Amino acid sequence: MIRLGLLGAGFIGATHAAAIQAVEGAELTVVADANREAADRLAGQYGARAYYEAERLYEDEALDAVTICLPTYLHCEAVVAAAERGKHILCEKPVALAVSEVDQMIDAVESAGVKAMVAQCVRFWPQYAAAKQLLDDGVLGRPLMATTSRLAGPPGWSSWFLNPKLSGGAILDLAIHDLDYLFTLFGVPERVFAVGTASGTGAWDDVLTTLRYGQMGASARAGYLMPDGWPFTTSFRILGDEACVEYRFRVGGQIDNRAAAQTEFTLFRSGQDPEQPACSTQDPYEAEVEYFVDCLRQGREPEIATLKEARTVLRIALAARESLETGGPVDLL
Ligand SMILES: NC(=O)c1ccc[n+]([C@@H]2O[C@H](COP(=O)([O-])OP(=O)(O)OC[C@H]3O[C@@H](n4cnc5c(N)ncnc54)[C@H](O)[C@@H]3O)[C@@H](O)[C@H]2O)c1
Repeated sequence: MIRLGLLGAGFIGATHAAAIQAVEGAELTVVADANREAADRLAGQYGARAYYEAERLYEDEALDAVTICLPTYLHCEAVVAAAERGKHILCEKPVALAVSEVDQMIDAVESAGVKAMVAQCVRFWPQYAAAKQLLDDGVLGRPLMATTSRLAGPPGWSSWFLNPKLSGGAILDLAIHDLDYLFTLFGVPERVFAVGTASGTGAWDDVLTTLRYGQMGASARAGYLMPDGWPFTTSFRILGDEACVEYRFRVGGQIDNRAAAQTEFTLFRSGQDPEQPACSTQDPYEAEVEYFVDCLRQGREPEIATLKEARTVLRIALAARESLETGGPVDLL
């Protein structure tokens, strides 16, 4: 049994708690949050112990691992502290706000010899994973163009999101999902160019990032400036010289309402009827926790969404932000 402590009982903490509960061989043993009510509520729901200070969770010898669901600006401090106490770590995305923070995290994890993974849930999202498989299997042919989009209203449940110094704004908080996905498909782009809109707080909160990979291009649109009533919507289209695969996910409210989503997932091949490609039906957050727990049970290092990969993808997102600020392209290779 892998005993997990959850740090941060907010919006995504609740999703992780449900996922841990659903995974065989995992137990949600502790929920810690500086907000006592939040800790008590989530701990009570799952029969876990509630702590009100992160320190108690790090010191708890019953725990094998911690899931860090704190606001982004606290990830680095929490990962370093957890690693120093010998805890394995699953840390929410975006991994951090600066490359120097990820370097500290990598140092701490390597010196302590613990295992760490970043919760890039899109890696485990059935249709995103199935489309990557179609590309890897050559079904799409040579890739020509990929576009992604992720549009939402402001994340109104917590005010820290709207402060770019704390969340990084949509370019780090939201675009990171698709920049990470495009990285898994095509690697590091040679060049990044972004245009966007800064909201009143100075955060780049609706951004179109273009990425150049040799003769091929990709784009990632991410924003949380959509009006009230806009359903949270993500999509991608990957075009190859033999086929195109397209996905659209749309849900009223936020991602936690995902079971009610309307989805379309279609493969278009010339001369054939459109097909619905096969894909897993497992909840992506459960699949993510299951993979992490499985790695711990087998004593192997997670190979998906490692800290080093997250560092690379953060560099891509920060290059997009630099492009927004300078108005010019940024070369990465
Ligand atoms: N993967 C996804 O789909 C997804 C979705 C939403 C958020 N996130 C990420 O998850 C992280 C958390 O986001 P959220 O929406 O859950 O935020 P949130 O504000 O809803 O929750 C954060 C929780 O941390 C607690 N907290 C803050 N400081 C603390 C401290 N020092 N000690 C203990 N507890 C403290 C708060 O009381 C709150 O309950 C962010 O990095 C965010 O980008 C990921």
